[in-house]
Amino acid sequence: MISRRDVAKLGASLLLAPAGVRAARGAAVPWWKRAVAYEIYPRSFQDGNGDGIGDFRGMAARVDHLADLGVDAVWVAACFDSPNADNGYDVRDYRRIMPDFGTMADFDLFLSRARARGIHVILDMVFNHTSDEHEWFVRSRQSRDDPYRDFYIWRDGRDGGPPTDWQAAFGGPAWQFDARTGQYYLHTFVAKQPDLNWENPQVRAALYDILRFWAAKGVSGFRFDAITSLAKPSAMRDLTPAQRAGSGAFAEIGPRLEGYLHDMYTHVFAGTDLYTVGEAWGAPHAAIAAMTDDRRGGLNSAFRFDLQLQDIRGWRKTPWRLEAMRAFNADNAFDDDPHVWPLVYLEDHDFPRAVSRYGSARPEFRERSAMLLATMLLSLKGTPFIYQGQEIGMANYPFTAIDQYRDVAAHQGWRDEVLSGRVPAATYLANLAQSSRDNARTPMQWDGSAHAGFTTGVPWLAVNPDHVRVNVAAQQGVAGSVLSFYRRMIALRRARSCLATGRYQDVSPEGRQGDVDRPGGRTGGLYAYLRRDEAGAALVVLNFSDAAARYALPDGMAAERVLIGNLPHPAAAVGGVLVLRPWESVIYAVRPG
Ligand code: GLC
Ligand code: CA
Repeated sequence: MISRRDVAKLGASLLLAPAGVRAARGAAVPWWKRAVAYEIYPRSFQDGNGDGIGDFRGMAARVDHLADLGVDAVWVAACFDSPNADNGYDVRDYRRIMPDFGTMADFDLFLSRARARGIHVILDMVFNHTSDEHEWFVRSRQSRDDPYRDFYIWRDGRDGGPPTDWQAAFGGPAWQFDARTGQYYLHTFVAKQPDLNWENPQVRAALYDILRFWAAKGVSGFRFDAITSLAKPSAMRDLTPAQRAGSGAFAEIGPRLEGYLHDMYTHVFAGTDLYTVGEAWGAPHAAIAAMTDDRRGGLNSAFRFDLQLQDIRGWRKTPWRLEAMRAFNADNAFDDDPHVWPLVYLEDHDFPRAVSRYGSARPEFRERSAMLLATMLLSLKGTPFIYQGQEIGMANYPFTAIDQYRDVAAHQGWRDEVLSGRVPAATYLANLAQSSRDNARTPMQWDGSAHAGFTTGVPWLAVNPDHVRVNVAAQQGVAGSVLSFYRRMIALRRARSCLATGRYQDVSPEGRQGDVDRPGGRTGGLYAYLRRDEAGAALVVLNFSDAAARYALPDGMAAERVLIGNLPHPAAAVGGVLVLRPWESVIYAVRPG
């Protein structure tokens, strides 16, 4: 615990902070622009002691898998001490490893093994809120004049109810009444996740100290959780009708948020090569550009949600469209702005599996559609993030009943929507099976044994029954497997600078691309784009469809040779026309016209 005097000292130093942004990072490309990153969800990656929960000993034992895959960085999802109201996204102590995941010595072992294999470790910083069991909150709720009172956001009620009509992200009011002091506190997520007050310089100083603590241990960067919720509205008013109809979000995305990020940058990151990435729900293009513009000093990159929210809103699942994916990818290239560096991902611990969502449900096309998605992910502009299990094509779990879920959001929705009588149980469950975060959280499938090699005990969340076929051991060293393809694709991206840092240009055929619906991929579309830099050019051609498709090369372009394909014997361009089989993906070295 920091002393009050330390807090005061750090608070004062904030006022003296240099105002300007530090000058350029020099000519060299920063490590994270060339990197391929991989997210580990520790609870589900590898159990090392048989209690059914993944841990750092288990992760340390699997570093070779990551090194063989060829990734440069690992983002470890929330792993600090927590009562687990939201699987670690409710932190009780930011300087302590979650006991479920082991000890600090276990963490150090994982870190040193990763670093020895040249893998950077990125930690998840949940700084929008803490657990209600965090010492700061325990103090804060004790009395209205406790020195920690202002670490959180406390307000008087209004007419016997909460101060405003704001809704929490997983449902229900965003205010919780606390009888002891007769006021409400704000929580963007569940009531066990009270929001920190970023307006308070002492809060920021305390958080920066935590970053310095982990940086000193040798981690290489941070992913900042729920970054767009940090800046609360300056006026505590009810939602506007537009806000109510939309996401219901009440935080401000704009100058105040940018101010916080800049403050953090100047105090912690300026002059370092630490990588910073924000989780930016609800932030539109311009806001992302502003937060990550390297002339301003904020974050290096951000996870965007525009594409993810196309077909998933809370528990609701609707069809997705290839057109929307193309539009997003173009938008996410930021017009090749040299000052903005994108991030690309299809999966993380908050969304269902990409192969079930964007690929083909037909068994004969499942693997190749997983490889097609790998082709896209690893040939787009920006730092790609692979999510654990994506590299073997893990799919959604066949959920049928509410008691199969562990996710707090799934159960909150069940209470708010189904038990209240608003939505029929069957509708909710059918949607949830395709939208739930638990699809991504089932244990990693290492082999075909009883619990997929994840644990010798009882897994905390059921293993997907398809693990008997879909697992690392079955794909290891097998030519044509999804895993081998990921390795080759990562190596290709490393070998061809244009795939990582080159300019992006969509060269898809004119006209309607068609809807790719789930399940079954009724109709599809052909998607093609060009990546190029001074060293060369590559054409990426993706057939998102259960049917064959033709693609005519743009005028004057010559496809010189195949760099990679997800099926044996990819098509050569005959008379400038390519014919792609269902779900085929090919990257050609080309001479642009
Ligand atoms: C982020 C996390 C998610 C968590 C939420 C609240 O969205 O990725 O898992 O529930 O923040 O911390
Ligand atoms: Ca364990």
